[in-house]
Amino acid sequence: MKRRDFFNWVGLGLLASSLPVAIAACSSDTTTEASSTKPKNWQKVGTKAGLDKTGQLLVEKSPVGPVLLVGTSKTKNLIAVDPTCTHKGCTLAWKAKEKKLVCPCHGAEFGGDGKVLKGPAQEPLKTYTAKIEGNSVLVKPI
Ligand code: FES
Repeated sequence: MKRRDFFNWVGLGLLASSLPVAIAACSSDTTTEASSTKPKNWQKVGTKAGLDKTGQLLVEKSPVGPVLLVGTSKTKNLIAVDPTCTHKGCTLAWKAKEKKLVCPCHGAEFGGDGKVLKGPAQEPLKTYTAKIEGNSVLVKPI
Protein backbone atom coordinates (compact mmCIF):
# COMPACT_ATOMS: atom_id res chain seq x y z
CA MET A 1 0.00 0.00 0.00
CA LYS A 2 1.31 3.38 -0.92
CA ARG A 3 1.69 6.05 1.67
CA ARG A 4 -0.99 8.22 0.00
CA ASP A 5 -3.52 5.35 -0.03
CA PHE A 6 -2.85 4.68 3.65
CA PHE A 7 -3.65 8.30 4.62
CA ASN A 8 -6.80 8.27 2.47
CA TRP A 9 -8.02 5.16 4.36
CA VAL A 10 -7.23 6.71 7.75
CA GLY A 11 -9.04 9.92 6.79
CA LEU A 12 -12.10 8.01 5.61
CA GLY A 13 -12.13 6.00 8.86
CA LEU A 14 -12.02 9.15 10.98
CA LEU A 15 -14.86 10.68 8.98
CA ALA A 16 -16.99 7.54 9.32
CA SER A 17 -16.41 7.28 13.08
CA SER A 18 -17.31 10.92 13.75
CA LEU A 19 -20.52 10.85 11.67
CA PRO A 20 -22.76 9.36 14.43
CA VAL A 21 -21.56 12.05 16.88
CA ALA A 22 -22.34 14.80 14.36
CA ILE A 23 -25.81 13.38 13.71
CA ALA A 24 -26.54 13.14 17.46
CA ALA A 25 -25.41 16.74 17.98
CA CYS A 26 -27.77 17.94 15.25
CA SER A 27 -30.83 16.08 16.54
CA SER A 28 -33.55 18.06 18.33
CA ASP A 29 -33.50 18.82 22.06
CA THR A 30 -35.12 15.97 23.99
CA THR A 31 -36.14 18.16 26.98
CA THR A 32 -38.30 20.30 24.72
CA GLU A 33 -39.96 17.21 23.33
CA ALA A 34 -40.52 15.79 26.82
CA SER A 35 -42.20 18.96 28.07
CA SER A 36 -44.52 19.06 25.07
CA THR A 37 -45.78 15.56 25.91
CA LYS A 38 -47.17 16.65 29.29
CA PRO A 39 -50.93 16.10 29.56
CA LYS A 40 -53.17 19.08 28.84
CA ASN A 41 -56.25 17.75 30.66
CA TRP A 42 -57.17 17.54 34.36
CA GLN A 43 -54.67 15.66 36.51
CA LYS A 44 -54.99 14.57 40.13
CA VAL A 45 -52.19 16.09 42.23
CA GLY A 46 -53.44 15.45 45.76
CA THR A 47 -56.32 15.03 48.13
CA LYS A 48 -58.77 17.50 49.62
CA ALA A 49 -57.70 16.38 53.12
CA GLY A 50 -54.02 16.98 52.27
CA LEU A 51 -54.76 20.50 51.03
CA ASP A 52 -56.98 21.37 54.00
CA LYS A 53 -54.35 20.17 56.48
CA THR A 54 -51.90 23.05 55.83
CA GLY A 55 -53.64 25.31 53.33
CA GLN A 56 -51.10 24.48 50.66
CA LEU A 57 -49.94 21.49 48.70
CA LEU A 58 -46.54 21.18 47.02
CA VAL A 59 -46.23 18.41 44.44
CA GLU A 60 -42.78 18.47 42.91
CA LYS A 61 -43.39 15.64 40.42
CA SER A 62 -46.91 15.63 39.07
CA PRO A 63 -47.91 14.56 35.54
CA VAL A 64 -48.07 18.26 34.53
CA GLY A 65 -44.83 19.24 36.32
CA PRO A 66 -44.23 20.89 39.69
CA VAL A 67 -47.39 22.32 41.27
CA LEU A 68 -47.95 24.49 44.34
CA LEU A 69 -51.59 24.88 45.39
CA VAL A 70 -52.58 27.49 47.95
CA GLY A 71 -55.99 27.52 49.63
CA THR A 72 -58.39 25.03 51.15
CA SER A 73 -61.45 23.17 49.93
CA LYS A 74 -63.47 26.21 51.04
CA THR A 75 -61.41 28.68 48.97
CA LYS A 76 -63.30 30.02 45.97
CA ASN A 77 -60.26 30.49 43.69
CA LEU A 78 -57.38 28.19 44.48
CA ILE A 79 -53.91 29.45 43.58
CA ALA A 80 -52.10 26.90 41.45
CA VAL A 81 -48.68 27.67 39.99
CA ASP A 82 -45.46 26.00 38.97
CA PRO A 83 -43.31 27.07 41.96
CA THR A 84 -40.07 26.93 39.97
CA CYS A 85 -38.54 30.41 39.96
CA THR A 86 -38.11 31.68 36.42
CA HIS A 87 -34.80 33.33 37.33
CA LYS A 88 -32.59 30.31 38.10
CA GLY A 89 -34.99 27.55 39.11
CA CYS A 90 -35.18 27.63 42.93
CA THR A 91 -38.45 26.47 44.50
CA LEU A 92 -40.61 29.37 45.67
CA ALA A 93 -42.31 29.57 49.08
CA TRP A 94 -45.80 30.96 49.69
CA LYS A 95 -45.90 33.81 52.19
CA ALA A 96 -49.50 33.82 53.44
CA LYS A 97 -49.35 37.19 55.25
CA GLU A 98 -48.02 39.02 52.19
CA LYS A 99 -50.03 36.83 49.79
CA LYS A 100 -47.11 36.29 47.44
CA LEU A 101 -44.52 33.71 46.41
CA VAL A 102 -40.95 34.52 47.42
CA CYS A 103 -37.75 33.00 46.08
CA PRO A 104 -35.26 31.99 48.79
CA CYS A 105 -32.30 32.28 46.40
CA HIS A 106 -32.26 35.88 45.11
CA GLY A 107 -35.48 37.38 46.48
CA ALA A 108 -37.74 37.47 43.43
CA GLU A 109 -41.43 37.80 44.25
CA PHE A 110 -44.52 36.64 42.36
CA GLY A 111 -48.23 37.19 42.82
CA GLY A 112 -50.68 34.34 43.17
CA ASP A 113 -51.48 34.86 39.49
CA GLY A 114 -47.84 34.08 38.63
CA LYS A 115 -46.93 37.63 37.62
CA VAL A 116 -43.53 39.02 38.63
CA LEU A 117 -43.80 41.51 41.51
CA LYS A 118 -40.06 41.95 42.08
CA GLY A 119 -36.95 40.87 40.16
CA PRO A 120 -34.45 39.60 39.34
CA ALA A 121 -36.92 37.18 37.69
CA GLN A 122 -38.36 38.58 34.46
CA GLU A 123 -40.78 35.89 33.30
CA PRO A 124 -44.09 35.01 35.01
CA LEU A 125 -44.74 31.60 36.50
CA LYS A 126 -46.63 28.89 34.68
CA THR A 127 -50.13 28.66 36.17
CA TYR A 128 -52.84 26.02 36.36
CA THR A 129 -56.59 25.94 36.73
CA ALA A 130 -57.48 24.03 39.90
CA LYS A 131 -60.60 22.35 41.24
CA ILE A 132 -61.70 19.86 43.85
CA GLU A 133 -63.81 16.89 42.85
CA GLY A 134 -64.82 14.52 45.62
CA ASN A 135 -61.65 14.03 47.65
CA SER A 136 -59.31 14.79 44.73
CA VAL A 137 -57.46 18.00 43.94
CA LEU A 138 -57.12 18.41 40.18
CA VAL A 139 -55.13 20.83 38.04
CA LYS A 140 -55.04 21.58 34.35
CA PRO A 141 -52.38 23.63 32.53
CA ILE A 142 -53.68 26.99 31.32
S1 FES B 1 -33.60 31.75 41.46
FE1 FES B 1 -35.28 32.92 42.15
S2 FES B 1 -34.59 34.94 42.18
FE2 FES B 1 -32.89 33.81 41.47
